[in-house]
Amino acid sequence: MKTTKKLLALGLSTLMCAATYAAPLTVCDFEDYPIGTEWTMWNTQSSTAKVEADPLNASNKVLHVVLKDWGCHPEFTLSTELTGKALTDRYPTLRYQLYRNPSETDDHKQFAVFLGSEELYRDEGYPFQGDKGVWQTKAYTLKSASADNTSLALRLGIHHNNSDFYIDNIQLVGEYDDYVEAEDGQVFDYCVSNTSSSYKTINTPLYIPAGVTANVRTSRYSEWISPVAGKGTLNIYAGGERSYIGSQSSKGATYPDWTKMTGDVHVYPYKDVIGSCGFYGLVLHSGTFSPDNYNTTHPNTLFTNSRLTMHSGAAIAAENGTRGFRIGELNLEEGAEIRGYYKKSTANSYYIIGGLNTDNMLAGKISPSNSGNKIGLIKEGKGACIITGNDNNINSGIMVNAGALLVCNDAAAAANGKKSGATGTAGTVMVAEGARLGGNGSIAATTDCYGVIEPGTTDYDTLTFADYATSKDVKLTLHPKSYIKINARSASEYSTVNVKGSVVFSNTTQDFLTSDAAPRLKLLLADDASFSINDEITLLTCSAMPEGGMAFDMRYPQRYTFTTEQRELADGSFALVARVISLDDNPDYIENDDEGESTSTEKTYPEEDVTEDMQSDVPLRTYAEKLGKSIGVAAASYRYDISNDNVKETAAVGREFTILVGENEMKFDATEPSRNSFNYGGSDAVMWLASRNAQEVRGHTLAWHSQVPAWVSSDGKKNNNGFTRTELLDILKNHIFNVVGRYKGKIREWDVVNEVLDDDQSQVRTTPGSYKLRPSIWSTYIGEEFIDSAFVWAHQADPEAKLYINDYGVEFMGGTKTEAYFNLVKRLQASNLPIDGCGLQCHLTTGQLDTLKLENNIQRYAPLGLNCIITELDIALANPSAPDALEQQAKEMAAITRVFLRNDNCPTLMFWGISDNHSWRQNQPLLFDSNCNAKPAYYYVHAQLRKAAESVADGIRSAEYRETKTRQYYNLSGQRVGSQYRGIVIEAGRKYIR
Ligand code: XIL
Repeated sequence: MKTTKKLLALGLSTLMCAATYAAPLTVCDFEDYPIGTEWTMWNTQSSTAKVEADPLNASNKVLHVVLKDWGCHPEFTLSTELTGKALTDRYPTLRYQLYRNPSETDDHKQFAVFLGSEELYRDEGYPFQGDKGVWQTKAYTLKSASADNTSLALRLGIHHNNSDFYIDNIQLVGEYDDYVEAEDGQVFDYCVSNTSSSYKTINTPLYIPAGVTANVRTSRYSEWISPVAGKGTLNIYAGGERSYIGSQSSKGATYPDWTKMTGDVHVYPYKDVIGSCGFYGLVLHSGTFSPDNYNTTHPNTLFTNSRLTMHSGAAIAAENGTRGFRIGELNLEEGAEIRGYYKKSTANSYYIIGGLNTDNMLAGKISPSNSGNKIGLIKEGKGACIITGNDNNINSGIMVNAGALLVCNDAAAAANGKKSGATGTAGTVMVAEGARLGGNGSIAATTDCYGVIEPGTTDYDTLTFADYATSKDVKLTLHPKSYIKINARSASEYSTVNVKGSVVFSNTTQDFLTSDAAPRLKLLLADDASFSINDEITLLTCSAMPEGGMAFDMRYPQRYTFTTEQRELADGSFALVARVISLDDNPDYIENDDEGESTSTEKTYPEEDVTEDMQSDVPLRTYAEKLGKSIGVAAASYRYDISNDNVKETAAVGREFTILVGENEMKFDATEPSRNSFNYGGSDAVMWLASRNAQEVRGHTLAWHSQVPAWVSSDGKKNNNGFTRTELLDILKNHIFNVVGRYKGKIREWDVVNEVLDDDQSQVRTTPGSYKLRPSIWSTYIGEEFIDSAFVWAHQADPEAKLYINDYGVEFMGGTKTEAYFNLVKRLQASNLPIDGCGLQCHLTTGQLDTLKLENNIQRYAPLGLNCIITELDIALANPSAPDALEQQAKEMAAITRVFLRNDNCPTLMFWGISDNHSWRQNQPLLFDSNCNAKPAYYYVHAQLRKAAESVADGIRSAEYRETKTRQYYNLSGQRVGSQYRGIVIEAGRKYIR
């Protein structure tokens, strides 16, 4: 390692500025304009912008913006030769400073950026815009502009009609403009001896080009809060137990963006400054995370794209709470550790490893380091994770989701030394469908296999399931789709499975389905295998047999003819032995045997010819009405004027759909903003829109943890107003009776409760039938009965209304939250509550859809007499710049529409918004674009409905048919009308006046 004396002598900060190798493009800092200059505002009627003195610093000039109209922004001219895509490729970030006038009333606004007429950024929804009365720096990642956009007019600002703010120092920033570019061998020295009250802050953004190695020496009390990027190598000399990556005040929960660091990272212990400490390493943290939902929440991403090697003596520790860390490739040398924080007993951490699809080696120690802590491993990616430590205690278990886990500890040493081995004794090792468990070591944990067990590595070896630490029997559970694969070459060279405990055959699949299929056992022969008659291969031994014996579904090789025998051995254990009974080929050989390796559902959906749909002016509702199906949309009164049918969004909402829901209008905070004082402005506007278009209405939602008014709870969870349980029950009851009562007979159905389940439902694998509620003001301070009560009150307030429960993350069969939802719904039904069905929100991203798992999930509610409907569909583009992004979205929308159309217990499909610019999510998730023009997704959905409708005969359906459906009204000419329709209607064969 080369130290640069000059660098240290100069003082790091000076040199680091000098080393910056690129600069941002300043759009405007207002210094060149006289005070009072009136700024050009795009699209203004009465809004103004003026150059003024900074309210906090009279010598600085800034722009004062006062907005009184929607969608008008100050406009700037860029001084650069770059245009369009070239411009945004070079400068993907827009940064500026914002000062909100303390007198501003509305904290939630939408920020947007345009280049000419092209939108480059828009906030998702209307987020909190930061504290008032202080300058704050805002940075936004821009969408790539189109190549042919030659405009140099940049418009930016807040989309709102009531704002008063100042802006300054607007810059377009390139990816590494603010970074220090490391020179090869450079040392960044932060290795001072600190005390806990004086943390050393590492705040130098570092860019390490390919081929360059940079060295950073941290100290015992340090916080590294700056980003690192590049393809080079980073050596971290970790000074001690309080080296945070992330801010120390947040204990690492707020951490810098290292995702652009794709090179190797090495962590070494650095003992030169502090000679003795709890451990030498890094303390990491992240947002709340739970193992079974790691795709939807956000683990710490510091090392997501790196190969991280922990060298002997170095450690990573999680401090407290439940934390997840995603590491592209993690290698632990012998003597290195991943651990909980040694002084804490509440550090639950999960390491998600393997995303780089490479192999990795864990030779160090993995343990929670304190008895109350938990530690877990989740293997993703195609590679193999080889684990060799013999003192591990992975007490939260290991989930092998993809690739292989090769357990290769020294089993003999574990047996002799009574060691816990590679996995430890406490967690469960779960091998998912499509994943593999192998190796030649010992597994002391309970093992649940849905995938493949293939003992051995490159040799013929034994994989042992044995708890040498406590000498207790272990349990290996084989599920219906699981596979044991035994490789053999001769009667003396073969792999085998040895279970010092019981083998159990389960009848539950990974998707929680019941199956009678026995687990499979396959014998594979080497090309040069040679056997004689009566040669034997011990496939498996165990000390306790599955009920009904080892009745595997046997798959023999093509060569030789084998039979299997189950034997009791002298020590009371059992063996399954394959014996050669003929040297001839196996007459029952199954070619193209299902390998059980890959179960991933096909993610490609058919192309559709939508020429006819693109020319058609028949709206979706015409087909839906003919089919007796409800197709709906969330209308949003605060995003566009829903009382004006000339507004294009309002017109589309009225034209295309049979049913509406208010995106926010019927939520608790909207309808009861202060106690017992109800506001039906928004909700009435939705009802009025529906009645103008003869549409039905869904009510959303009565009891939810979000969007509750502050008088109930400051955050939906805390009981900061000190209500008693009885008071909370009264509050909920009064709310429901008022809101449901007001729309009695007019709202077809209500989402009575919304999102009541916790995201972590991993307990359902071990406790069938269980579910866990999310903490909320209702669940914590009333108890689960708030759900029961809410259903009863809603039913009392409007006995005709259909009642639903609604949630997200419950769409696909096999998900633990999906299973918990099913369990909860069954419980509600078993409690005789008036529940008609459940809603799947379906806030998806392209690539997530699994139609089979969606349909299986919907269908299992049918035998219970329950509907399962799609309540909030939107599909964000995973990769908006991909050329086929919109087509992929269209295909997925079509696939969901087909599931909806072919399942009678799925009568309703609702989209969560009309057009992309009015969505609560980014990345164009809806059927109409920002100009409210139909997208491919619309035409694909249109085609599904059209084709289904074309295949049914015209006319009124039979009374029996209608009776099975939710309330449907027809006029005298047999056309379906909404519940708002006034006149003579026919319902279930009865005619009456409404
Ligand atoms: C969202 C709205 O779309 C946003 O405008 C609002 O800011 C937050 O709520 N699940 C639900 C919906 O049940 O009520 C949420 O709607 C989206 C997630």
